[in-house]
Amino acid sequence: MLRRPIELSFEVMKRTGLKAAVLAMVASIAPAMAWDGDSSVRNCTWCHGTSAQGYMVAPRLAGQRPAYTESQIRSFREHTRDNPFSKQYMWGAVAALDARAARELAAYFATIAPKPANDGDKNLVATGRTIYMEGIPEANIASCYACHGPNAEGVREIPRLGGLAYFYLKARLEQWGQGYHSGPASPMPLVARQLGPNEIEALASYLSFVK
Ligand code: HEC
Ligand code: HEC
Repeated sequence: MLRRPIELSFEVMKRTGLKAAVLAMVASIAPAMAWDGDSSVRNCTWCHGTSAQGYMVAPRLAGQRPAYTESQIRSFREHTRDNPFSKQYMWGAVAALDARAARELAAYFATIAPKPANDGDKNLVATGRTIYMEGIPEANIASCYACHGPNAEGVREIPRLGGLAYFYLKARLEQWGQGYHSGPASPMPLVARQLGPNEIEALASYLSFVK
């Protein structure tokens, strides 16, 4: 598991409170859901953190585009998203989810307000923002804004990036260059191949602070 033993008792305490909160949320926003929302959501928040805001290496799911979350669950199930953490933690976690449960979980997580991780390097924010908005035409680096939107909020299957954790963003941007995949027909391997370590650090820093 993701946890160090010392965190276990604290986590048990947190989860006892969380269960009631999650139950209340599911009951209030989605009274018509037929699937056992409580146990499914808990299976996810165990790793993805309280209110799905992310925890250690598990990214925030709160506020993510539902079409994107659904597409990633499919990629984990079909083993096309194949980096080491995906393989180790997510292939098993979604193995028993059917398409309908995946859609409902994705819709549910999208309703939770996302909190920014704010954990990048503040000194790199301005550089990261410039690359995000304009790309670096002379280095063949695409503007991220063109697809991910002016406030990194995403659209349809293009994910929200604003406020994701620095470590997670950096790892993802490195992985495409290392030959790992996320889903079929993703433009990201081509985009990320052009990014060097300095650009990746600046982009991940900037994005971690975007609300
Ligand atoms: C054992 C821990 C664990 C459990 C349980 C778990 N996850 Fe994950 N999840 C992870 C980790 C770690 C990653 C990061 C994978 C990577 O780095 O590519 C991840 C990534 C994801 C992503 C990709 C997010 C993105 O921004 O691309 C989605 C979607 C996701 N999980 C959904 C779920 C859902 C839905 C459940 C419950 C059914 C769940 N997870 C249960 C650990 C877990
Ligand atoms: C042509 C459109 C396009 C451009 C340009 C683009 N992206 Fe993406 N991006 C996508 C799509 C589609 C996905 C989802 C598919 C995937 O994960 O492979 C994605 C996924 C991502 C993810 C994964 C998010 C997560 O939750 O795991 C990151 C990080 C990312 N893009 C960063 C960037 C950055 C930084 C730039 C600019 C240098 C950029 N993208 C430019 C379309 C684009």
